[in-house]
Amino acid sequence: MSKFWSQVVRELEPYVPGEQPQIDGLIKLNTNESPYPPSPNVINMMSQDAIDRLRLYPDPNSKKLKQTIANYYSIQPEQIFVGNGSDEVLALVFMAFFQQDKALLFPDISYSFYPAYCKLFKINYNTVPLRDDFTIDFADYPNTNGGIIFPNPNAPTAIGKPLADIETLLQRNTDSVVVVDEAYVDFGGETAVHLINKYPNLLIIQTLSKSRALAGMRVGLAAGNALLIEALDRVKNSFNSYPIDRLAEAATIAAFEDDSYFKHCRDKIVTTREWTTKELEQLGFSVLPSQANFVFAKPAQNNAAELAQKLREHKILVRHFTAPRINQFLRITVGTDEQMQRLVEVLKSFAL
Ligand SMILES: Cc1ncc(COP(=O)(O)O)c(C=O)c1O
Repeated sequence: MSKFWSQVVRELEPYVPGEQPQIDGLIKLNTNESPYPPSPNVINMMSQDAIDRLRLYPDPNSKKLKQTIANYYSIQPEQIFVGNGSDEVLALVFMAFFQQDKALLFPDISYSFYPAYCKLFKINYNTVPLRDDFTIDFADYPNTNGGIIFPNPNAPTAIGKPLADIETLLQRNTDSVVVVDEAYVDFGGETAVHLINKYPNLLIIQTLSKSRALAGMRVGLAAGNALLIEALDRVKNSFNSYPIDRLAEAATIAAFEDDSYFKHCRDKIVTTREWTTKELEQLGFSVLPSQANFVFAKPAQNNAAELAQKLREHKILVRHFTAPRINQFLRITVGTDEQMQRLVEVLKSFAL
């Protein structure tokens, strides 16, 4: 704390991301990155010519990238917004839509960046408890609200909501913006992206950090009605005109265009997830049904924090959260087959 800090900074409760330690031989299962490299086409985009052009500012509107995403989802480029990671896109969304008199609603167990944005932008919010089985029930979300946001699948539970339930929510909740954060949707969830043509208050957020293996590049996107996108552009252009650099734009286009590589990696991750789930269950863990690239698992001995520490001593990093309802769980990113075999082997050696 310093006397130079503004009141806003004094009151902030910043989000704490999973660690990125530099340890040789580390098996990193703590931040839901892809265990596979990005599409080989991404490397081809990093030509000398592209590097030479780094002296020039990029296209502030990322037109080519928006066209690529529009083609991919069969929507219009005017329905797309891109930013420097979906965290930044989310920050702009909170600023553009959620500074309302009525409270923003999101699940009590959810992406822990949401309350951090609320603090930063002084947004009034209420959390809605997940049901006992850790599912979201939209019946618990009243129509009087300043907006609704939830991840689908939810994080860190990994449990998805069917599209039909999201549509039922949209049919009745017409007076505020509904944001579906689809960071993990590619691993088995159902995207609501096509509903943007039907519901002018729906905004979808996606990231290139998980299923497309570009976490280090920082690219996220929003899809929604053109008027919602215009609002995001207004905020963005009051903040940073060029959130997507030249290399990030080229890499993202390459990643979207290489659909077969994308599907190949995604399918491998899903297969490894199912194997990991069975193995963990055999070791006595309760594993929530996952539609994501991670599993949320509760050890039989209720010693999640201790296990996370012991795994770390064996150079395996997983994520443990201290929030009361979930402090008995570990969030484990799905890595390669070899990484998950090692995880299981080390867990077995603990004689759980
Ligand atoms: C639910 C959810 N939303 C958004 C993000 C942010 O992703 P990024 O900023 O890498 O695009 C994450 C990252 O872990 C996440 O779990």
